Amino acid sequence: MSDSNPRHAAMAASTTQGVDADDFAGALLAGLNAGRKQIPCKYFYDAEGSALFEKICALPEYYLARTELALLARHAEEFAALVGADAELVEFGAGSGRKVRLLLDAVVRPRAYLPIDISIDCLLASAARIDADYPDLIVKPVIADFSRPLALPPVTRGARRRIGFFPGSTIGNFTPEAMVRFMRNAARLLRGGGLLVGVDLVKDPAVLHAAYNDAVGLTAAFNRNLLARANRELGAGFDLTRFHHHACYNPSLQRIEMYLVSAARQQVRIAGRAVSFVEGEAVHTENSHKMTIEGFRCLAAKAGFAPRAMWCDVQRLFSLHWLEAN
Ligand code: AVI
Repeated sequence: MSDSNPRHAAMAASTTQGVDADDFAGALLAGLNAGRKQIPCKYFYDAEGSALFEKICALPEYYLARTELALLARHAEEFAALVGADAELVEFGAGSGRKVRLLLDAVVRPRAYLPIDISIDCLLASAARIDADYPDLIVKPVIADFSRPLALPPVTRGARRRIGFFPGSTIGNFTPEAMVRFMRNAARLLRGGGLLVGVDLVKDPAVLHAAYNDAVGLTAAFNRNLLARANRELGAGFDLTRFHHHACYNPSLQRIEMYLVSAARQQVRIAGRAVSFVEGEAVHTENSHKMTIEGFRCLAAKAGFAPRAMWCDVQRLFSLHWLEAN
């Protein structure tokens, strides 16, 4: 980012933690050599995958994004009252910035905005847009994997409280145990502040099936982007037409599971190593947990948060939770 504006230069001097360039190759080979093949879902989000995800959010079948956005717009004043004046806002995941703007517009004198994301290009682009549009706000992007423990810069001078924002039901991509671990870390980072979290709700499996098997095939492209990314970054030899997208609801675990299924017996070279697939072999790529309101509140309480308020739409598709660290 070459820019003569000193505020932007300060913003570009973002914190980087534990994001290792070799990570993808190592994780991919380890996952594909495991007894049950899997690829961690955080690798969806290179520039290509992040752009595909933005398009998924606009699909008619993918009710999550628009329902959450409507809730945020409708209740922005209530969130602002809970957050209080002069807060510092920490966003887990950078996204397009659309959701956090609703908060920034409603909160009184927000002091600083710290978006945390592993996808560097997406993070810096979205942080730069916020920086340009909110001249009084200090923007400090943090390049990090928020599924692991991380440190944040000291609370900005003049900020009264640190508030976390974790929209999109990204928390649902963690296992329940990892959700608790994430919230414990968040409680520590927020130093007694509050956390606003978006959580997708258990519902008719047909609605869920449609959301993860859209008619135009964007979710399939998003899933296959893991292989396309391996081809681009690691010179892997995946033939994308030989892997099918499969997403199904697992009712006992209350989650959508996504897989890439090998259409044939095949061998693929990745970073100089050969990996074999039998016909019909599935690579597990994502879990997207759907929660009950009570179920999520119990997990939050286990992590040391007091669940204080909850909002959901009339169809009970999606929920937003305001939690306060004990
Ligand atoms: C980011 N995350 C909440 C999305 C989800 O719904 O689990 C990712 C996604 N996977 C398929 N479509 C969207």
